[in-house]
Amino acid sequence: MEIQSAEFIISNSDVNKCPVGNIPEYAFIGRSNVGKSSLINMLTARKKLAMTSATPGKTLLINHFLINKKWYLVDLPGYGYAQRGKQQQKEIKKIIEDYVLEREQMTNLFVLVDIRLEPQKIDVEFIEWLGENGIPFSIIFTKADKISASAQRANVQRFLDTLHDQWEELPPYFISSSANKAGRDAILDYIDQINQSL
Ligand code: GTP
Ligand code: MG
Repeated sequence: MEIQSAEFIISNSDVNKCPVGNIPEYAFIGRSNVGKSSLINMLTARKKLAMTSATPGKTLLINHFLINKKWYLVDLPGYGYAQRGKQQQKEIKKIIEDYVLEREQMTNLFVLVDIRLEPQKIDVEFIEWLGENGIPFSIIFTKADKISASAQRANVQRFLDTLHDQWEELPPYFISSSANKAGRDAILDYIDQINQSL
């Protein structure tokens, strides 16, 4: 799928103020600093569409980007950044939970997982919570450029094995790098397929 246009539409902290209408949307969630905003820039081939930062906690709001005038990519704040104050952590958690549970236009949630790490409790628990609530999701492993192909395979397998303890059927997953564009075509094709099935 070609990206012909990508426009920032709105940022806000309240799911009720997100754009109205029935345009399908695809949201990106995961731990702070996992690479959500970078992935949106990589997919759209727009370097500065979503704001990124080397320090965690950059994205604090729900951000809607309209793609090809037909669907949205949604950048969400990250979870699990302990350096934030308790109050801010609570606010972020509420933004994420309200969005995930209430946003009817969200056709798929991409859960981003750092491919370098052993399975993190916070990610596994978040995915369990999605399952309990019947949220459609897929997994994107990020930062694949940082480790070898064999380490990628081993870490992905370890993560899937961990999920298998809870899940009979595993969700679709992708391996990506915002640095070398790995996974771009597969993720865009997947979005395209869902768009066409709606
Ligand atoms: P928050 O908004 O704070 O939740 O973070 P985020 O998940 O949006 O992460 P962001 O895209 O801002 O990226 C965090 C850091 O990781 C930045 O320094 C990026 O340059 C780096 N990064 C993101 N993706 C990749 C990748 O695929 N490869 C490499 N090498 N670095 C990456
Ligand atoms: Mg971000």
